Amino acid sequence: MARKVILDVDPGIDDAMAMCIALLDPALEVLAVTAVGGNCSPEQATRNVQTILEQIDPPYWPRLGAASAPDDGLPVDGRHLYGNDGLGETNFLVAERQHLHPSEKVICDQVRDASEGSVTIVALGPLTNIARAMILDPELPSLVGEIVMMGGAVSGPGNITPTAEFNIYCDPASARAVFHSRSTKTLVPLDVTNRIVLSYDLFNQLPDESTKVGRFLREVLPPAFRGYRRQFGLEGIHVHDTITLMAAAHGELFTTEEMAGDVETSGDLTTGMTVFDRRRVPAWRHNMDVAVDMRADEVIDAIISGIRTAGAKAG
Ligand code: BDR
Ligand code: CA
Repeated sequence: MARKVILDVDPGIDDAMAMCIALLDPALEVLAVTAVGGNCSPEQATRNVQTILEQIDPPYWPRLGAASAPDDGLPVDGRHLYGNDGLGETNFLVAERQHLHPSEKVICDQVRDASEGSVTIVALGPLTNIARAMILDPELPSLVGEIVMMGGAVSGPGNITPTAEFNIYCDPASARAVFHSRSTKTLVPLDVTNRIVLSYDLFNQLPDESTKVGRFLREVLPPAFRGYRRQFGLEGIHVHDTITLMAAAHGELFTTEEMAGDVETSGDLTTGMTVFDRRRVPAWRHNMDVAVDMRADEVIDAIISGIRTAGAKAG
């Protein structure tokens, strides 16, 4: 039976690739895609979720949720990597839908409507919506099966400040609330996601232009490659979100360790930093599994195979 998932995303080209795979993965049933501000503004993130769905047009459309700003506003965005609109300024036309419910309501409704413990939330952006959903429905942490989150760093540096990873930095208070919640959680941090860099060879493996997924990815990926070269001098791209989707869908390819994690919510140098109690005798209680390793070659194979399946299935 397909695994029920809610994708919480801030597209972002990285999130867009993960969406393409998840929406057409026969092993997943995507109940909802909920937008959150991060790589771009909340309004743009909502528009991008609709754009991606229209471009891919999967046989079954999930519910959509609209993003709103985090309580303290967004301190940063991903324009440096993904362009002003988050999708490489590709200017897709989109027939915007009116009256979308807020993302946090959609999350609560979908988890309540499904049987207890059957829904996995795959959180690929700031944790604003997940924290708000937990305020809206305080039982949510025990009703949801698992939350698999892309964010933070255990030993390595951040990627938006020397100490903070982008998703956590965007809304540290929400990240802290989710870390503290009683939910079952798996964190996929930069330490693991940074290990994969997809090179230009990716273009040889994408579905061709005659498929919707091939057309879409061939349009949005070149700006991402340009962003990574400009920003980091890299001849390739990181796909943090797609790797996190793989951790949710193919957990056997990842090694995890139980850890006790928290988030720094203020500090001149450390706002948004994830902190783990890794002392010999920790005083904090374990509150999540953290990915510490992966079989990188097999993860790459699973990503390519997921994209190719999506290309074939969407037509
Ligand atoms: C995360 O930040 C965003 O730029 C990506 O979409 C990913 O979710 C990586 O730090
Ligand atoms: Ca993201």
